Order: sequence, then structure tokens, then C-alpha cells
Amino acid sequence: MQRFSYRLSRGVTEIILGTGAISSLGELEDALVLFPESLEDLVKSHIHGSAEYIGISDGEESKTMETVIQVLDKLMVGNFKRNSMLISFGGGTVSDVAGFAASIYLRGIRYISVPTTLLSMVDASMGGKNGVNFKGVKNVLGTFYSPSEIIIDTSLVREMPKFLIEDGIGEIAKYAAILDIELQEFLMNNSVNEILEDEEKTQYLLTRCVKDKMDLVEQDEFDQKGIRAVLNYGHTIGHAIEALSGFSISHGRAVIGGMLMETDYAVSKGLVTPDVRKRIGELVTHLGFSVKREDYLPGPPEELIQYILSDKKSTRHTLKLPIPEKPGIPKVCEVELSSISDYLGLLK
Ligand SMILES: NC(=O)c1ccc[n+]([C@@H]2O[C@H](COP(=O)([O-])OP(=O)(O)OC[C@H]3O[C@@H](n4cnc5c(N)ncnc54)[C@H](O)[C@@H]3O)[C@@H](O)[C@H]2O)c1
Repeated sequence: MQRFSYRLSRGVTEIILGTGAISSLGELEDALVLFPESLEDLVKSHIHGSAEYIGISDGEESKTMETVIQVLDKLMVGNFKRNSMLISFGGGTVSDVAGFAASIYLRGIRYISVPTTLLSMVDASMGGKNGVNFKGVKNVLGTFYSPSEIIIDTSLVREMPKFLIEDGIGEIAKYAAILDIELQEFLMNNSVNEILEDEEKTQYLLTRCVKDKMDLVEQDEFDQKGIRAVLNYGHTIGHAIEALSGFSISHGRAVIGGMLMETDYAVSKGLVTPDVRKRIGELVTHLGFSVKREDYLPGPPEELIQYILSDKKSTRHTLKLPIPEKPGIPKVCEVELSSISDYLGLLK
């Protein structure tokens, strides 16, 4: 079992990673476990003790204030205290809701995250960002609140359906492309199946992603110094793709589309050389994704701009766009929204 500790504003976040990591929870008491309804059997086979449970419906539709209120209600009715535990057992949807509820109930109760999707193991469970969608805008309400523990049980990876693997690979590709040349080479030298069938390789993959993300989070927890902005590579256009598709295109796949289009944009503006785009194309292809823009466009490209305009990270006129300057080396460019709009075909 591997353990990593990160010092953040509220204290230490400990990450426990390995086969059977969930057993580190022991016999629970004074805990409320939030999980997606479809995972009821999984949660109850892994969690022991006298915890209370709250199941929420699956998927993005649950990321609402109504669900947060449901959780808060259960916490109040159950008379949970600040040192009680709220445990998120599920993917990013559940941890985004749980983290938000944990941060506002009694101004913050103990929060533990058990990610069960590849995407949440490598990204969503870490870093303290949480939130819900509101008035059609993704993650517009939320707080920063890191779990005290994140328990990444690698045995879950082998039981995970293929679509969840593919989705997580989207975020993994992001780390490899913009931050981590060693991870990029590791991915290029192994197929995804080879990695996931081998416990040592799986742990190497997850550990690199944990370190890639948490090293940046530790330096810029509240996303104010431009350091953490690097993690947004592929997400400006990626979030817009996801929203325009009505969330029928998954987050990880949308991030791949976003990486390709944002890099194409950067090449068209002379911000990076075409070699960078070529290398990203090779990585994406090796990971089994298409490099054709149309495969990521759920509608006319100019319609993406309305979602980009509501991006939390934009000002009225500009946007910080992270791009790999060279493979694995990031730079953050300040770009005019109008120039992205032009690129997407919306000439005004
Ligand atoms: N807060 C952050 O930093 C951050 C980062 C990235 C993504 N996110 C958010 O995460 C959400 C996406 O999360 P996700 O990709 O983990 O998906 P998800 O949580 O929506 O789960 C997808 C589906 O997989 C099911 N599922 C979960 N674990 C499973 C397992 N082990 N076996 C079988 N089915 C399982 C869920 O019940 C659900 O139906 C998005 O809302 C995104 O905005 C947040």
C-alpha cells in the first residue's frame, strides 16, 4: 500500500493507494456514505460497520443543489457532528456533491473520498474543487474543500466497465501531454490493456497522475497563481463540448477533443509549433481515440462559444489557455475570447 501526504490549508490530505486500500476504512461508525444508486451492491460489499447510507441517482443530472440539500438534510436529521465522517463512494459526480455538502455543513465536517471511476481516481477526487451545475452552467456553484483522506483501491480498476476506463484515459492523456513526459513515454510504450492488467503498472500510472495533480494543487490550492491553471488543458473547449452535447459526450472524451482543438488553435496563432500537435495526435491515437475534430463536435462549432463565455476562468475579454509548449512542458497563454470565437467559426 502506498501513502502520500499533501499539506493544504485545512490540514493534511492523505492518499492511500493500492489493492484493497478500502479496508483502511475499518469498521465505520458515525459516518454517512454517499453513493450512486447503481453501486449499492459494490458499496455494501466494501464498507463495513454501522454507517448510514444515502444513494443518489446516477450521473450528471444529480449534480444539483437539490441533491446537496438532500445530503444536508440527512446529515442534520442524523445529528452528524463536525468530527463525523461524510464518505463519498463513487465517481466525480458523487465526490463533487459530497465535497460541497461536507464543506458547508457545520462549516466543514470530516470528508473522505473513495473514488470508484478511473477519472475520479486520477483527477476528480483530488484537489478540493467540488460543486454542482446551476441554470445549465457546469460546476458554477461550489467551494474548495479537500478530503482528509482519498482512498484509491486499484482492485476496482480491473472490475470497471470499459467506458469508465476510456473516460479516465482522457484525463491521463492530459497529464501526459502537458506535464509529464515520463508518463507520456510510459503510455506510448504500453497499451492501456497491458497497463491495467498489471498491478505494478496500474499503480505506476495512478501514482504519476496523483503526483502530477497534487504537486500543482499544493502550490496553488485556490487556483489563483496560474500554476493550477495548467490542469485546465483541454477543458476550455472540452467543457463546452460536454455541455453542447447535453452531457452525452463523456468528460474524458470531451477533454481529448478539447486538447486537440485547443492545440490546433494554438498552432494557428503561432503559440506552439505543429510538432507539438503531431505528438499529441500520436498519443491520442495510441490511446485508441480519434483525432478527427468532427468526432468531438456534437453541433456547429460556433455554438461552443456560448459555453466558453461562461467559463469560470475567463475574464470578460480574455481566457488563460494552457498548452504544452513542448511535450510535457506547459505554458499558459492569455488569449482573446474573440480570437477563440473566430477560430470556432463565429466571426463577429
Ligand atoms: N472536482 C474536480 O476536480 C473534477 C475533476 C474532473 C471531473 N469532475 C467531475 O466529475 C464528473 C464525472 O465523474 P466520473 O467520470 O467519475 O463519472 P460519474 O461519477 O458521473 O460516474 C459515471 C457512471 O459510472 C458509475 N460508476 C461509478 N463507479 C463505478 C464502478 N466502479 N463500476 C461501475 N460503474 C461505476 C456511476 O454510478 C455513474 O453511472 C463530472 O461531473 C465532472 O465535472 C470533477
